[in-house]
Amino acid sequence: MAIRKILTYPEKSLLQPSIKVDTIDEDIKNLIADMGETMFNAPGVGLASPQVGVNKRVIVYDTNAANPDKDDSVQEFTALINPEIIAGSGSIISEKEACLSVVDYNSDVKRYEKVTVQALDIEGNPLDFEAQGVLAIIMQHEIDHLDGILFIDRISVLKRTMYKKKIAKMQDDQ
Ligand code: NI
Repeated sequence: MAIRKILTYPEKSLLQPSIKVDTIDEDIKNLIADMGETMFNAPGVGLASPQVGVNKRVIVYDTNAANPDKDDSVQEFTALINPEIIAGSGSIISEKEACLSVVDYNSDVKRYEKVTVQALDIEGNPLDFEAQGVLAIIMQHEIDHLDGILFIDRISVLKRTMYKKKIAKMQDDQ
């Protein structure tokens, strides 16, 4: 296992769609192990493969992220391969949503309150489950990454333009 570098906006891999995984081989298993370690090291509650520069449809998330009594010393993650949101309902505001790949920024984002996710587990077994609240937000945020979509693509044009200007200025200053 190794900690991989988390890429940040406007890195190209973050902006392009990822391809489906057809074989869960050693490379994918290593990728998943590294993503789990990288996520907890950051620390974050979710990570998608484009964030480490791999455009394959894999996400990981903190298994206990939605548990209000969560013990931070317990580091368990779940990996989903080829995850898809097959249904969404209701609406909630994800307050101060942030991303390890979008530095120094957060914003309220409108999300589904409840989603149904279909995916493969690490052994390739199909699964589906319903998520709501925090877990639903994590699913939407991470699966968006696999389509090259960042949370800043889901806020107002004005706010997004301001963020892009800030990043452009930071890069000019370097
Ligand atoms: Ni993110």
